Parts: sequence; structure tokens; C-alpha cells
Amino acid sequence: MAGHKVSALDIPRNAAVVVLTGAGVSAESGIATFRDSGGLWEQHRVEDVATHEGFVKNPELVWRFYSLRRKDALRVHPNPAHYAIAALEEYLADKGSFTLITQNVDGLHSRAGNKNVLEIHGSLFKTKCDNPRCPASETPFDDETTDYDALPKCEKCGGLLRPDIVWFGEQLDRVTEAKAMHAVGECEIFLTIGTSGVVWPVAGYSRLAYELGARTITANLEPPANVQNYREVYLGKAGEVVPMLLANVLND
Ligand code: OAD
Repeated sequence: MAGHKVSALDIPRNAAVVVLTGAGVSAESGIATFRDSGGLWEQHRVEDVATHEGFVKNPELVWRFYSLRRKDALRVHPNPAHYAIAALEEYLADKGSFTLITQNVDGLHSRAGNKNVLEIHGSLFKTKCDNPRCPASETPFDDETTDYDALPKCEKCGGLLRPDIVWFGEQLDRVTEAKAMHAVGECEIFLTIGTSGVVWPVAGYSRLAYELGARTITANLEPPANVQNYREVYLGKAGEVVPMLLANVLND
């Protein structure tokens, strides 16, 4: 598949826009993706570091894995794709609406200036109690600690603390998911950037937007697995393609 020729999108100032991002948007910042060659899932077993069973079995290993990823995320900077998406939010601020749904846990969108960000798979920089009966399990707190000498414990119940990441086999946070679905249901333009389109339920959002008649657009290095959901497909590196697609916004 060749993809469409990249040129500036015409986005009205009063448009309702949803942007959905995945690991590919952060690749040029120096953050490893998951499924590309050399990606995180080639180097680690998903069951060991991204499931609750793995955490129960070896919490030290899981904390070491996420501590390293925190360090990596803090070491790098947003790239031109992140900044172009932040400019889009600003452009729509007066008359339109904008929601950014990100599967990324690296915090780079907020650092680039985006405000309405739904971190649908959680955040590297949030921690919560692992004990489902503890009230603190519902209230993640900010935590940028990159090294723990010992496993961190909950102040309220003494249970283990865990990264606030949605692991495989876990439900999305209900409120975050409801906000995301609402925005997808209302949007006129649905733009996906840098995601393979294989992880559900988020991979289905583009289908919903498509069926509701939105202008669905993807910008990705290669055609995503759910490419049939997109009316427009732009292939290339996010750091190059996204600023070109959003040139009218950036030049405004
Ligand atoms: P993947 O690693 O599955 O996919 C990254 C996508 O980005 C691929 O389609 C690449 O072709 C594309 N890509 C790579 N470099 C790019 C670049 N410079 N510009 C544009 N595109 C590029 O990552 P996600 O789709 O984000 O979940 O993965 C979804 C979820 O699966 C993640 O949130 C994570 C993972 O397991 C959890 O950890 C819960």
C-alpha cells in the first residue's frame, strides 16, 4: 500500500477533533516502540512485565522495568510531531473541540503543551496501591521516583504499590474510557498517529469514528492492522509527516 500524498489538511477552526497516538509518535524522541524490530516486546516477555500475574510473581523485576522506562522518558524530549499536536489543540481552543487519547505512558504530550490528554493506558509517572480493597487503589498519585531501594508500600494499608499502567488482561479506567468514547462519538476528524492498531479496545475506536461518518486519517510508518478504518492513509515518520499534515495550523 502506497498511502496518500502528504499535504496540509484543511481543518476548520470550529472542528471537533480527536487525535489518537501510540508509541510511533515518540519513536523519534528516542523511546522504543513495542512491536517494531528491537521493540520492547522483543526484549521482554509481556507476561513478565506487563501483566498483574507477572507483578505478583516478581514485583522487583516489574518495578525495575518501569523505573528504567521512567528514566528513559525523562531523558528525552518531545519531537516535532508532539509539538504539532499541541499546536492543533491551541488552534481549536476558541471555537472547536480537541481531545487527545494516547496509549503512551511517557508524558511527552503534556510536556509538549497538550492539556486535554486522556492517558488511556495509564502513566509511567503515576503509582497506585495494588490492594483492590484499599481506597488508595482508586486514586493514583504522581511519582517520578526512578529508583526504589526497596519495594514501595502503601501508606494507608501497607500493601504493595504498583505503576499506574493498564496491563494486559486489565480493564481501562472507567472514567477515562467513558471520556474517550464520548469524544470519539462526537468527533468530525479522527486522526491516528503511530499505532499498530492491534491492541483492543483502543484499536476499535477508529472503526466507531468511521461508522459514525468522521473523517478518519492515519499517519504511520506502515499501514496499521486496522487500515480499513481510515479514509486517508499517510505513510512516513511522524516527526516529518505530522507537521506537514498540520502545516496550516502551524502557520496560522
Ligand atoms: P506498537 O509498537 O504496537 O506500534 C507502533 C507503531 O508505530 C507501528 O505501527 C510502527 O510502524 C509505527 N511507527 C514506528 N516508528 C514510527 C515513526 N517514527 N513515525 C510513525 N510511526 C511509527 O505501539 P502501540 O500501537 O502504541 O500497551 O501499542 C499499543 C499498546 O500495546 C501500547 O500502549 C502498549 C503495548 O503493549 C500497554 O503496555 C498496555
